[in-house]
Amino acid sequence: MNWYPTRVPPQVGRQVLVTGANAGLGFFTSARLARAGAHVILSGRSPERLDAAVAAIRGRMPRASVDTLVIDTSSLDSVATAADHLLDRAPLDAVVLNAGMVHTPSDRRESVDGHELVLATNVLGHFALLAGVVPHLARGARVVTVGSLATRLSTFRVDDLQLTRSYSAWRAYAQSKIAAASLAFELDRRLRRAATDAAEAVGAASVTPRVHSVVAHPGYSISGRTPRVPGVNQPPTADRFADALQAAWSQGKHRGAEAIVHAVTADDVEGGQFWGPQWMVKGAPRLAAPTRSSRDARTGALVWAVAEGAVGQTFDVGARA
Ligand SMILES: NC(=O)c1ccc[n+]([C@@H]2O[C@H](COP(=O)([O-])OP(=O)(O)OC[C@H]3O[C@@H](n4cnc5c(N)ncnc54)[C@H](OP(=O)(O)O)[C@@H]3O)[C@@H](O)[C@H]2O)c1
Repeated sequence: MNWYPTRVPPQVGRQVLVTGANAGLGFFTSARLARAGAHVILSGRSPERLDAAVAAIRGRMPRASVDTLVIDTSSLDSVATAADHLLDRAPLDAVVLNAGMVHTPSDRRESVDGHELVLATNVLGHFALLAGVVPHLARGARVVTVGSLATRLSTFRVDDLQLTRSYSAWRAYAQSKIAAASLAFELDRRLRRAATDAAEAVGAASVTPRVHSVVAHPGYSISGRTPRVPGVNQPPTADRFADALQAAWSQGKHRGAEAIVHAVTADDVEGGQFWGPQWMVKGAPRLAAPTRSSRDARTGALVWAVAEGAVGQTFDVGARA
């Protein structure tokens, strides 16, 4: 069944930030949102790769409303500089936390701030970014965290998020994705609590949170099944051949991006939800069931406290609730 592309509601007047937007899912998410009329801020760590991504979008959509912002999510300094910049702009309507190390190192490495590198890149940078910008998001804004099926395939050790005791490339990736989802659901709970507190303070009945935090995963989306985009996606022929052999259980990144785009734009999306492909690894966006460990409130509160300690910043979602 050919479900692609899905219908995206008009996005004119909305401003969206996408991290890791110069390649893969982040690029295709950005392109789709720009096509629907959103102003998209493509962020990434390399100005040259960001320019190539913008050129690729403008090559197909000369009037696309896009610009760039350098954020290296593994560096808290880079994140703080970007957050300051965003506070001087009009409030964002959505933030897509997509940047990530997918091919993780076989030995444990540390970020410039001394944190385990995969955790720093995939989780802590995004957490610090949100701590800076959530109070400045537009009313009704969405924070979409890009999750993963890897959350189903690993245990979660909150007491060793930095993996000082037992590092492996796979554990680093899987734990980072569980931590990211856990923080996203914890953010949703805190936003709801803040909305309830704010409503009670003025004797109002309404408890709609000011911002909605959602997780979306792309199934199994691979480059070799993705359209060629000069400067953005140019897998060698051998990779295309190898990836074609995985056709039954994979899809291209352009299709994987659809669950993320849905989480950003669709009317049927609410905070605390988990969206993903219909057939788990591929297919049209559907509401999915997150793992129990990523939804667990006690775990979420613990991960939140560890993240606050690591980034050296209190994240108060109550401000302007
Ligand atoms: N593909 C899948 O099947 C799949 C499945 C589940 C979840 N995901 C998640 O989807 C997200 C994107 O994955 P993908 O498959 O599109 O991977 P990808 O093609 O490798 O793209 C990753 C993006 O993240 C950026 N990035 C990496 N380190 C960064 C840093 N320190 N600062 C800023 N940006 C950084 C990369 O930029 P550079 O070009 O500079 O490296 C690139 O733009 C990840 O969070 C991944 O965990 C993917």
